[in-house]
Amino acid sequence: MNDPNGLVYLDGEYHLFYQHFPDSTVWGPMHWGHAVSNDLVSWQHLPIALYPDSLGYIFSGSAVVDHNNTSGLGRDGKPPLVALFTHHDPIGERSGSKTFQTQSIAYSNDEGRTWTKYAANPVLQNPGKKDFRDPKVIWDESRAQWVMTLAVYDRAEFYTSPNLIDWTYSGQFGIPGDDRLWECPDLFPIQVQGSEETKWILITSIQKGAPNGGTATSYFIGTFDGNQFIGDVSDQRWLDYGTDDYAFVTWSNLPASLDRRIGIGWMSNWDYAQVVPTNPWRSAMTLPRELKLYKTPTRYEIRTTPAPNLSELILSSQKMQPTRIRNEVILVDQPNRPLVHRIQLTLDRPEEGSVWVRLSNQSDEFLDVGFDQDKNEYYIDRTHAGAGDFYEGFASKHTGEIEIRNLCEMDIWIDHSSVELFADEGRCVMTELFFPSTPFDNVTLMADRDSVFVISNVISELRSIW
Ligand code: FRU
Repeated sequence: MNDPNGLVYLDGEYHLFYQHFPDSTVWGPMHWGHAVSNDLVSWQHLPIALYPDSLGYIFSGSAVVDHNNTSGLGRDGKPPLVALFTHHDPIGERSGSKTFQTQSIAYSNDEGRTWTKYAANPVLQNPGKKDFRDPKVIWDESRAQWVMTLAVYDRAEFYTSPNLIDWTYSGQFGIPGDDRLWECPDLFPIQVQGSEETKWILITSIQKGAPNGGTATSYFIGTFDGNQFIGDVSDQRWLDYGTDDYAFVTWSNLPASLDRRIGIGWMSNWDYAQVVPTNPWRSAMTLPRELKLYKTPTRYEIRTTPAPNLSELILSSQKMQPTRIRNEVILVDQPNRPLVHRIQLTLDRPEEGSVWVRLSNQSDEFLDVGFDQDKNEYYIDRTHAGAGDFYEGFASKHTGEIEIRNLCEMDIWIDHSSVELFADEGRCVMTELFFPSTPFDNVTLMADRDSVFVISNVISELRSIW
């Protein structure tokens, strides 16, 4: 699997569709796989929702509830669920044509259980652009129109529609002179915390040259004028500094969605997604995450935290007393039992040097998640974390920026082969995969200079989501 698709909330259910090739662990003819959850914590697999057809593979896209039945696809007075996706025609691609990606729709009249493709697909023809995909559609309440954001090579393009079927080009946003490929955009309004002010966020995933290599998800903050997003092209931010959070997009139709934005990313990187040593599965999603917009004295910024319900996964917790530590303290030691834990650490920033949490195993492998005061950055170092020879550069150290603060806060979610760091209340997020030869079964807190004051530390064991 790869990207999350068609994220939509309906009647108490969070739908998660995703790019899926059921016949192999490498990428192939894409389908939309389907899972649902009542709480974003426990998930149930459902049958494949969309299969490839004569127009091509089913690439990424979104889903909306058409409350006013603008499309006319509702039934018995009930609004339809409408999925909007890219048809990718592999024959057209091989023939050298430039018009092999078009936008199509499908609808469901039974809460997403079965889907019918619209008879007159595609609804948006390709104007002659090789990369023309991943429609993310929202209802623009104040102008009573649908807005589609598309990834078109090195930028986003916008289209508007009264009915999800007839689309008109309305504008674009990109970084002049920057030809990195954009994919999986998202556009939405969000209220600034503690104020009535609303800004618009344009998320875009970048397919090459992300801060720590390969692919990653970025965002811009700006406004929307009814036709296009307007923002500062020189202020591209990273939603996640780690190597393994791509194609992050958000749920539509959440109740009170203006002050609630929840999304999920694909936990991998196109640099090595197809060769990571997992069997028989390949790829997973990140934890679902909540985005909030804050205004600081100097700027607006998104802070990302794990979706609130996830604390339901906690089986048991231990709290450490505030203490001054030197060198190292063992936090978890459970020989040969894989770590599935959450570690919530709050420390005084060290005066100098680094402080980190080390996951390790009986095979002398380890992974460090830490903070470097000298460089003022968070980091994940998977240089010695096990398998890495499947991709040159996989076994390396990655860093994330942060502003100067007095405290150092790390909320670390550990699974068998992934770690998600939400640092400084979501100001710096890093998601990374790792593949130790035997399970990591020990967590130790370490510091390289003098001593560190631990203000609080909660260590929780987590249960499975299945
Ligand atoms: C992003 C992406 C999308 C495309 C899909 C194909 O990971 O390349 O642009 O729709 O994956 O699977």
